[in-house]
Amino acid sequence: MGKDKVQIFDTTLRDGEQVPGCKLDTKQKLVLAERLEELGVDILEAGFPISSPGDFNSVNEISKIIKSATVCGLTRAVEKDIKVAAEALRYAKRPRIHTGIGTSESHIKYKFKTSQEEVIRRAVAAVKYAKSFVEDVEFFAEDAGRTDNDYLARVCEAVIKAGATVLNIPDTTGYCLPEEYGAKIKYLKENVTGIDKAILSCHCHNDLGLATANSIAGAINGARQIECTINGIGERAGNTSLEEVVMILKQHPDLNLDTNINTRLLFETSGMVSQKMGMPVQPNKAIVGTNAFAHSSGIHQDGVIKNRATYEIIDPEDVGVSESSIVLTARSGRAALAYRAKKVGYELTKLQLDEVYDNFLKFADVKKEIVDSDIHEIIETSNIELES
Ligand code: KIV
Ligand code: ZN
Repeated sequence: MGKDKVQIFDTTLRDGEQVPGCKLDTKQKLVLAERLEELGVDILEAGFPISSPGDFNSVNEISKIIKSATVCGLTRAVEKDIKVAAEALRYAKRPRIHTGIGTSESHIKYKFKTSQEEVIRRAVAAVKYAKSFVEDVEFFAEDAGRTDNDYLARVCEAVIKAGATVLNIPDTTGYCLPEEYGAKIKYLKENVTGIDKAILSCHCHNDLGLATANSIAGAINGARQIECTINGIGERAGNTSLEEVVMILKQHPDLNLDTNINTRLLFETSGMVSQKMGMPVQPNKAIVGTNAFAHSSGIHQDGVIKNRATYEIIDPEDVGVSESSIVLTARSGRAALAYRAKKVGYELTKLQLDEVYDNFLKFADVKKEIVDSDIHEIIETSNIELES
């Protein structure tokens, strides 16, 4: 049986770019948009056109150059936003308007100071208005994570009737537990009349470190679009990280879900986004961190040198990293030292290795990491005879 496709909706250039200090100009956004298309994202959220003339221009220019991905612009459920977004997207081959409104009790009570019925009325009006410009309209129920499921189902039903083709169920505040978020998606699949006409989408924030887990729970329960960003950047603690969800689906064929992403471009794309946004990637970041394929403890190194599968669940080449690395520290063992010594040109006998290892530990105890130049020094200053 063929795998079900999960559409990857990239919002690096919209939710990701909202992060203080990450703002990009149009030229930078164009370079990243081209790269995201090459990476294989299905939908590229290019910006929030009403937010500034610069962002309008970015969405407009991106629409001109993107060949096959859907280009999407964000709006509030406000006519002016929608009109401006439609204008910004006018050159897109596949334009999508992403409109929506808050549906949780706190949004309705404190943000809009209105009623649930009025929110449904505004949602329906926004979708209908967006539909007068483009065929592909995505509706977001902001703070759906904290919205009562019965009411959320009513909102979804109403916007599907109005023509929404995708229903975004954001866990805007990153509050949900994976079980809860998965159950929410399941509930909507089972209780919204007309749901077969629309795709359910996960948009999870990472305030409790659960964005990726929640998105996967959503997909397992029937969502077929995941909204995410490169390196997981985004408001506050960030969004679901694209590289994580893509690699989870790839490494778990049992889920029977697949994406169109060329995973070999992940590492390089992560570096491009980090560099353009001036946002460093934490070294221990899953998939794309510099330590993601680095082994430093003796026990692990010994295993990996004997067989990679002992401690690696991903082939580094699959994400564009040429090989995993064996890092030498005071926690490393003889196997790692012999391995690295061989790489820089020394084939040590067992007796020589014992001698060099004692010397190595003296160096390693006072240095965080032993690099190639140190290995030469350690070997040259050890009490061994080297063959010339
Ligand atoms: O987190 C959120 O709810 C959003 C919406 C605007 C889609 O980013
Ligand atoms: Zn968001």
